[in-house]
Amino acid sequence: MSDSSNVFKQTIQQNLGPVLKYLDDPGVSEILVNGPHEIFVEKKGKLERVSETFPSEDDLRAAVNSIAQSVGRRINDENPRLDARLPDGSRIAAVIPPMSRKGTTLSIRKFTNTKITFTDYIKMGTISEDGARFLDVAMFLGKNIIVSGGTGSGKTTLLSLLCSRIPKGQRVLVIEDSSELQVDYDHLVMFETRMADAQGKGEVSIKDLVKSALRLRPDRIIVGEVRSGEALELLNAMNTGHKGCMGTVHANSPEDAIVRLEALAQGGDGKISERALRQQVSSAIDLIVQISRYGDGSRRIGAISEVLGFNPDGSYNVVPIFELGRLTRRADGTLEGKLEATGNVPSFMDEIVDNKLPFPKSKFQKAA
Ligand SMILES: Nc1ncnc2c1ncn2[C@@H]1O[C@H](COP(=O)(O)OP(=O)(O)OP(=O)(O)O)[C@@H](O)[C@H]1O
Ligand SMILES: [Mg+2]
Repeated sequence: MSDSSNVFKQTIQQNLGPVLKYLDDPGVSEILVNGPHEIFVEKKGKLERVSETFPSEDDLRAAVNSIAQSVGRRINDENPRLDARLPDGSRIAAVIPPMSRKGTTLSIRKFTNTKITFTDYIKMGTISEDGARFLDVAMFLGKNIIVSGGTGSGKTTLLSLLCSRIPKGQRVLVIEDSSELQVDYDHLVMFETRMADAQGKGEVSIKDLVKSALRLRPDRIIVGEVRSGEALELLNAMNTGHKGCMGTVHANSPEDAIVRLEALAQGGDGKISERALRQQVSSAIDLIVQISRYGDGSRRIGAISEVLGFNPDGSYNVVPIFELGRLTRRADGTLEGKLEATGNVPSFMDEIVDNKLPFPKSKFQKAA
């Protein structure tokens, strides 16, 4: 174990006593502290309140301070928010009072070392077999894909999985706010943003990194989360012959995702006309994969949709190729439902045939 990792472990042991056992419990994926007296954990996708508490706000605050220090960051009146990756790969986010009303609020998303595969996805009901095969086809053909979903819906996990399906022999550049994607791939180069220092200098944003990436001979550029002006750079990359670019966006439907990307790209450069931008957005993005989290704690792909251009009324023409069928509840409370073909054949059916990919047109037929 590296030194920084050891120091960090000690810091955690000394400071996070009340939640230590949950940090060590592999069944717990997330720990949420809402002020000193309220702790929730997420187990199997479900939140539950636990009985542990911190002795006082001061203790909790001291704990967060030391954790911040152990990773070379600070959290104080001037910087009341912390967003950091811990040496073990976990993510920590914190906000201190007075912004956070109940006391210091903290979330720890634990790093899970288990790489999820399509086989796991199928077992968990996240996707159907045909849905998974179709995504593989799209990855092979270098389609530009946006993963869309709400908070904690599994976007990053899905993007990692898609990256692992990139055909061999390409150069893949990954850009993230803080490294999270777990990708098994030969030729992978990862970049991480940097915050400004105490003097407000030295910031390196996702947008900066996308610009640099374009000059570093990328085959594919992957942006962990698109949430600001970098959307425009990513769309440019997609439109200038970089096939197979991907990113995630926070949205509740494929239609919302594309509108959000447009808005983010517009924010990145006010000079571009709405019409030109819409044209760029619709030609850049091939597929949107929507993932959501359901009441039983499961994550499911709700739709794999193709972006085809515009409708006469100016809205984007987003056509579902696969869609989640009706969900029913099993006796044990878990949900059951399947991602099914909608009957819409993707516009790139010819490419599937020309490349002799084992995905016949009949697979797009709607089940009777
Ligand atoms: N298909 C799945 N089935 C069940 N659990 C999953 C699935 N995919 C991811 N998870 C779990 O859900 C949690 C959130 O996953 P992930 O980080 O991928 O979500 P996200 O949408 O990227 O979150 P954020 O909005 O914070 O970026 C993790 O604990 C992960 O292990
Ligand atoms: Mg994420």
